[in-house]
Amino acid sequence: MARRYNKMRVCTNLRAGDILPSCGARGSKELAKALRTELEKRGNFIEMETVHCLGRCHIGPTVKLLPGGPFLQGAQPDQAARMMDLLEAEDYDAAIAAFPDEPPP
Ligand code: FES
Repeated sequence: MARRYNKMRVCTNLRAGDILPSCGARGSKELAKALRTELEKRGNFIEMETVHCLGRCHIGPTVKLLPGGPFLQGAQPDQAARMMDLLEAEDYDAAIAAFPDEPPP
């Protein structure tokens, strides 16, 4: 059976300086590396690519599921296995709850 989302984008954009926020300043390159490692362990069940900015810079690292899927925000490298557990199980509600698309309170 086809997966609902078969692709994910991970923003690894790094803006130098402290004027504008960026995912790269919040650990997104390390997150992308950890996600890739987890994905390879799981047979690359979803296609992953890194990109430069998805418009959620202030609450990154930003992950976007495609086609037409939710944003998953704020994951840190040590949470890569958890994110992949949820995506592999297609438990998208739990993934959204774990990595909400909103700023922390
Ligand atoms: S820098 Fe990552 S969403 Fe903009």
